[in-house]
Amino acid sequence: MIREWTHAVANTGLHYREADFGDSALDEFECGDEPHAIEMRDFFQARGWSGKALNFPRPSRCLQFGTLDAIVGYVAFVIQERPYPTFKGKKKRDYLLIAQMAIVTGFQGIRDPDGTATYAREIFDELKRIAQQEKCAGLYLNVRKENGKARACYEKAGFKADGEYLSPHMPGAEMIRYRLEI
Ligand SMILES: CC(C)(COP(=O)(O)OP(=O)(O)OC[C@H]1O[C@@H](n2cnc3c(N)ncnc32)[C@H](O)[C@@H]1OP(=O)(O)O)[C@@H](O)C(=O)NCCC(=O)NCCS
Repeated sequence: MIREWTHAVANTGLHYREADFGDSALDEFECGDEPHAIEMRDFFQARGWSGKALNFPRPSRCLQFGTLDAIVGYVAFVIQERPYPTFKGKKKRDYLLIAQMAIVTGFQGIRDPDGTATYAREIFDELKRIAQQEKCAGLYLNVRKENGKARACYEKAGFKADGEYLSPHMPGAEMIRYRLEI
């Protein structure tokens, strides 16, 4: 099925648009069978970015990314103030906070044949562009310490660790904050 995208990412095969609650593609979304991947799948299938699902209190924007004929992944994000220039900093700046992100299993680790990087890294480049447009200092996210694949992906994209904490929402979950200045 050819999808109708609203944005094309320059010099890549990637496109995107605001995710639509009524899109049945969301019901078929899957991104792996590890517990954190199931958590992501359930979030996007439940349209969790509305702020009404899965202990996710804030409404956020959600972008659906894809090629001309397939869904590549989803990113839910909000613009939010964070301490600057690190978590211990006294100042505050706006960041594009990536609340949840997941790539369809078949596109994980795959380089875009029409671009220069993996689809995941191309998505970060586009998020950086959006963050710049929104006058943010950078991108920000929190990830489970045990999620080695996601952490490797973030570090390759240029994110720097910004301290660790125990999640107040998920008992026992050790988390790491990451930020990427633009
Ligand atoms: C996290 C996610 C978005 C990253 O996308 P991706 O396409 O897999 O990312 P990339 O391939 O660009 O980067 C992953 C890197 O981790 C490496 N890697 C793969 N499995 C790994 C593992 N178990 N431990 C450490 N590194 C790993 C890959 O080799 C790759 O590095 P390389 O480019 O040097 O080869 C995607 O894997 C995903 O959706 N996972 C399920 C949901 C999820 O965990 N979301 C994030 C929650 S915060």
